[in-house]
Amino acid sequence: MLRIAVLVSGGGTNLQAIIDGINDGKIRNTKIVGVISNNLGAYALNRAADALIPSCVVSRKNFENRELFEEALLGAVDAVEPDLVVLAGFLVKIPDIMIEKYQGRIINIHPSLIPSFCGVGAYGLHVHEMALARGVKVTGATVHFVDGGMDTGPIIAQKAVMVEPGDTPEVLQRRVMEQAEWVLLPMVIDAIAGGRVVLKDGKAVITEE
Ligand code: GAR
Repeated sequence: MLRIAVLVSGGGTNLQAIIDGINDGKIRNTKIVGVISNNLGAYALNRAADALIPSCVVSRKNFENRELFEEALLGAVDAVEPDLVVLAGFLVKIPDIMIEKYQGRIINIHPSLIPSFCGVGAYGLHVHEMALARGVKVTGATVHFVDGGMDTGPIIAQKAVMVEPGDTPEVLQRRVMEQAEWVLLPMVIDAIAGGRVVLKDGKAVITEE
């Protein structure tokens, strides 16, 4: 059984896709052992409560400095003893101490086709604003391993989504979620739980069942 900790900051629709994926058997052999939010007001916490999943809040506001916050965040993750840490709309830079300790065991979902529209400042709705401002005709989502950089770790899976004439950032965000994010993330977690994600020459590969 793959024990996963899911880190969230906001609405938690990707968390919901994981909960639903486990319940309907699309994600096999996996248990969410904890949801951790940096934001007390995150709706994702309601979703965790509804699914009877233990959750906690580690907010930067409650700590004197970044180092203490990062230690507390790592402590909250350690406390649930996860095999895999899933960043599902978690908008905090992951502390180096956590990356070291959980090397190769942290994944992130990003709402674009990396290396487009990623890195510092590219998160949430901003990513879709950037895609529309650039006038791309295809965008999508990426699930990747987290390393010391910002959105630079090995790419595990990507899915393309068409940009349509007249799209607003909100409309495009919704389409990317529906067509890519909520499909990709459960698929990758299931593959990791099945031991089917391997790293070869620094690149991630999903092997056949
Ligand atoms: C998602 O679109 C996710 O890909 C994005 O934030 C949103 C969270 O939505 N993450 C990033 O931009 C990370 N750089 P959710 O809380 O409804 O899952």
